[in-house]
Amino acid sequence: MEHTETKMDYTSRNKYFYELNKKLVNEPRSSSLWDEYWSNKKKEHYVMDYMTKIHIVNFVERWINTGIKTILVAGNGVSQHPKLLQYAGFQVTAIDISPYATLFASAFHLNTYDISMKFFRNLNPQKTGLPYGELTDTDDDPDDSSMYYEEVKTLPKRNGGTLEFITGDFISDDMLVTKPFDLIMCYRTLQYYSGDLLKKACQSLVSRLSFNGFLMISVTNHRHIVQEISDLLQNEDIRIIDDYLNETSTDGKRCQLIFET
Ligand SMILES: C[S@@+](CC[C@H](N)C(=O)[O-])C[C@H]1O[C@@H](n2cnc3c(N)ncnc32)[C@H](O)[C@@H]1O
Repeated sequence: MEHTETKMDYTSRNKYFYELNKKLVNEPRSSSLWDEYWSNKKKEHYVMDYMTKIHIVNFVERWINTGIKTILVAGNGVSQHPKLLQYAGFQVTAIDISPYATLFASAFHLNTYDISMKFFRNLNPQKTGLPYGELTDTDDDPDDSSMYYEEVKTLPKRNGGTLEFITGDFISDDMLVTKPFDLIMCYRTLQYYSGDLLKKACQSLVSRLSFNGFLMISVTNHRHIVQEISDLLQNEDIRIIDDYLNETSTDGKRCQLIFET
């Protein structure tokens, strides 16, 4: 199939995403807006960031040692981390409200060869089996994903991992995901939420944590949301911790909040 999509210039792109983000802040649970977001991100170099940027590898060993088995990635977007976590032997569920993002994230087939060969480079539809054309990031500029490649090479391989991608709303009461999770990751998503909906989102995540479950939340752009989430979680009897890697106690539900610049 001929690749006909054109890139927006830098200024139009910023303006476009600024407007789209404003709509998303008003309607953060709109699957069609998120589909629009991802189908346009896909045309940009920056989509690589979303696939690879979360640096979890440092945590994996500790997650194994502290007995974490089940992981929910809430608002996964196009991230490839669920696959890495499955590779490391965890039972992983990734949920996103955007069907486009779920399809995108699940379309790659990760294997050890891919990891060692920096598998995100020079993707093409033949290799990936992506049903919707080519990613535009075929340059070789060093970027954040290079760091990621270095990290994944050290990831331990363990058997027994499982992975399910789900299109759905992690706030909905009848969310398709019912089992409790030892770890829930919700990255770069809650900054779109505020007021009652933010409260509902936090409660929903907490209610899906297992007895000693651990929540990892990151937010971008709006630092005040970190404080808001912290207050909301403390009302839910969650202990806010500074740094999971330095934590010795695994008793009770805990949350690490990260502000990403
Ligand atoms: C800014 S993206 C971040 C994606 C990914 N976590 C990352 O860090 O790259 C936010 C994602 O959350 C998803 N999302 C927002 N609200 C959601 C909800 N209530 N249930 C499921 N997914 C949701 C959106 O579809 C979008 O893919």
